[in-house]
Amino acid sequence: MTIDGVAASGKSSVSSGVARALGIPYLSSGLLYRAATLFALEDHADLSDQGAVLAALGTHPVRLEPLAEGNRVWQNGRDLTPELHSTRVDHGVSAIAVLPGVRAWVNEQLRQVPPPFVAEGRDMGTNVFPHAGAKFYLTASPRVRARRRAQERPEDVDAIEAALIRRDDLDRVQSAPAADAVVIDTGPLDLDGVIGKVLAGVQR
Ligand code: CDP
Repeated sequence: MTIDGVAASGKSSVSSGVARALGIPYLSSGLLYRAATLFALEDHADLSDQGAVLAALGTHPVRLEPLAEGNRVWQNGRDLTPELHSTRVDHGVSAIAVLPGVRAWVNEQLRQVPPPFVAEGRDMGTNVFPHAGAKFYLTASPRVRARRRAQERPEDVDAIEAALIRRDDLDRVQSAPAADAVVIDTGPLDLDGVIGKVLAGVQR
């Protein structure tokens, strides 16, 4: 099954909760885009230069560990996960995510994982797993999302909201909901409410 949605719509927490309820792993595609961004930044690559970014990725083999309680990304023995939600990665990731070679690098890693799993991101239900049995798409207003993310980032709500709106815009191309996805507005719901809706949708 796939869970896609806009930035800070709760995809990771919902996917984790759904995966745990079903006893299967979930895959965070966003973490791989974030890892690609971290490598490009560390190598001082121009984020719009696909050749330079792919060269950085070529020298950094990574492994996505799809734990249901929270995915981790490893580079040999180094756990990159704590560095992947920094503000500098937030700001660079959309530039990296438009590069077709980076999308192929992420998708190849996701497609190696044996099902069943919950795949989470922007284009899981449209491009990567178009034949998934159940598809969901999470939304919420920018203000609601910014308030949620302010609990995880040092910036204030207004700055976070502005950055989210900018990222929604930059990610628009790969963020359209699949025609057969169930769209859930998470604004009026708490986490368990969204997880319950998804599980009810799967079991229909
Ligand atoms: O929850 P949030 O959107 O902040 O983060 P994420 O899911 O980790 O995604 C980070 C970024 O990766 C997004 O802003 C997109 O630029 C990119 N992304 C993508 O293009 N396609 C995906 N399937 C997943 C993420």
